[in-house]
Amino acid sequence: MSRKIEELKKIKKIAKLGGGEDKIKSQHEKGKLTARERIDLLLDKGSFEEFDLFVRHQSTDFGLDKQRFYTDGVVTGTGKIHGRTVCIFSQDFTILGGSLAEYHAKKICKIMDLAMKIGAPVIGINDSGGARIQEGVVSLGGYADIFLRNTLASGVIPQISAIVGPCAGGAVYSPAITDFVYMVDGTSYMFVTGPNVVKTVTNEDVSFEELGGAKTHSEKSGVSHFRMKNEIECYESIRKLISYIPSNNMDEAPVFSFDTSGESDDETLNDIIPENPNKPYDMKLIISKLVDEGSFYEVHENYAQNIIVGFARIAGRSIGVVANQPMVLAGVLCLNSSIKGARFVRFCDAFNIPLLVLEDVPGFLPGTDQEWRGVIRHGAKLLYAFCEATVPKITVITRKAYGGAYDVMNSKHVRGDVNLAWPSAEIAVMGAKGAAEIIFKKEISSAEDKEAKLKEKTEEFTEKFANPYLAAERGFIDDIIEPGTTRRKLIKFFEILETKVDSNPKKKHGNIPL
Ligand code: HXC
Repeated sequence: MSRKIEELKKIKKIAKLGGGEDKIKSQHEKGKLTARERIDLLLDKGSFEEFDLFVRHQSTDFGLDKQRFYTDGVVTGTGKIHGRTVCIFSQDFTILGGSLAEYHAKKICKIMDLAMKIGAPVIGINDSGGARIQEGVVSLGGYADIFLRNTLASGVIPQISAIVGPCAGGAVYSPAITDFVYMVDGTSYMFVTGPNVVKTVTNEDVSFEELGGAKTHSEKSGVSHFRMKNEIECYESIRKLISYIPSNNMDEAPVFSFDTSGESDDETLNDIIPENPNKPYDMKLIISKLVDEGSFYEVHENYAQNIIVGFARIAGRSIGVVANQPMVLAGVLCLNSSIKGARFVRFCDAFNIPLLVLEDVPGFLPGTDQEWRGVIRHGAKLLYAFCEATVPKITVITRKAYGGAYDVMNSKHVRGDVNLAWPSAEIAVMGAKGAAEIIFKKEISSAEDKEAKLKEKTEEFTEKFANPYLAAERGFIDDIIEPGTTRRKLIKFFEILETKVDSNPKKKHGNIPL
């Protein structure tokens, strides 16, 4: 027996070296970690249990019979993060460039199937040259098997992708279906066609980094939710994300003990909204004062910054925050911010995470660019997402709530459970000046001093409509509160809403305006 155990140990040792020491050295020289180093950083110490270490491909074409590495280029298994089970796969670039083929795909599918059965998140660490060219269509089939599982698992278990190397061609569509994509500066890139093909087809000169690096996908395309400086930060950040979310759609997010007994109202909130309604202020400051100290974990920080989304805790319980940011484009809703908000709302709703909406929105962004690119269709996504969401939903209007954007941002009419406003709230069809120009058009144009008349009528409109009282009279706002009391109210209301039950009509699925 001892001889057999020794033999087993020997095979495992060889297997764990992946493509061998030279390849590991080259991986490190590229500034990248190995598949196993990554797993070690991500999981609780000693918690990893590997599956399918002995799997090898069965191909013989193009000399593959001489390169039959154990694991077939992907390390898969289960482990724990903060003591909770997760399923994981980590592509091993040292083996045939981490390329995906029949058995590599089968291993990923097996671990995803397990994740679905046990209700655990799946974390995929992607570092791959794409479809293994030597295995041809079998590799393509392997990708499709994964795409199907990504889709069926969506909304059942959280799916997280770390892109820490190449991820190109059709391979990008697996991470794209997952809930959160992390990218690392300098070493990761994603694109459907690389710089060479781009040059041939469109004659554009573009670098890997510019076309599909972490900065590009975090700021321009929104494909990446988190831009990380390095891999260590990336795995720390994924561990943090896991602390806010449940393991599956039947589960609740972890609850942390949090003592609120010594807290008093934060009077500084009473002075945060500028007297001049056109002056910006930082909504992130308000978020930080309302949620448990230091608990805000921003998602999509660098993309469509006119809306802020992220996880936080209120009295130890996870919430999702969606907030307009007056510091960027006056907090206006646009195409990208609508998509960003909608996707986040749907994640929270799918995974039982209550929503807090902080609203200061002057409306939707006007212009041909927005209209021609479909702000109607994309804006409707955010509306649809809020309408459909049945988790506890609280809105606080801090200042502007104008036009359609008032309806969209979790108004009472779209099943907001608790809708609060600060005295500074302005809830109206449109801004005072624009409104005065329309409804007092004749009076203004016939006035001797048109400027003065417009000013007078604007003030009249502001006095009458730019406040929260008319909405509160109709019950569209449940209460108008002093800003300093907001955290106390949120703690109470989220606690009250813990037992909320609501549902949507039975259907196969809705038809969100994609
Ligand atoms: C087989 C591959 C491979 C692949 C890389 N390798 N990609 N083997 N199939 N797709 C091998 C290389 O031959 C090499 O083997 C080793 O992995 C490391 O690759 P290098 O080129 O030395 O590494 P690097 O310089 O870092 O370049 C990485 C790379 C490059 C940019 C990813 O390897 C590359 O361009 N690969 C091809 C990418 C590609 O076109 N993939 C198909 C995309 S289409 P040795 O033995 O020399 O070390 C696709 C369709 C998916 O994926 C469709 C899904 C629906």
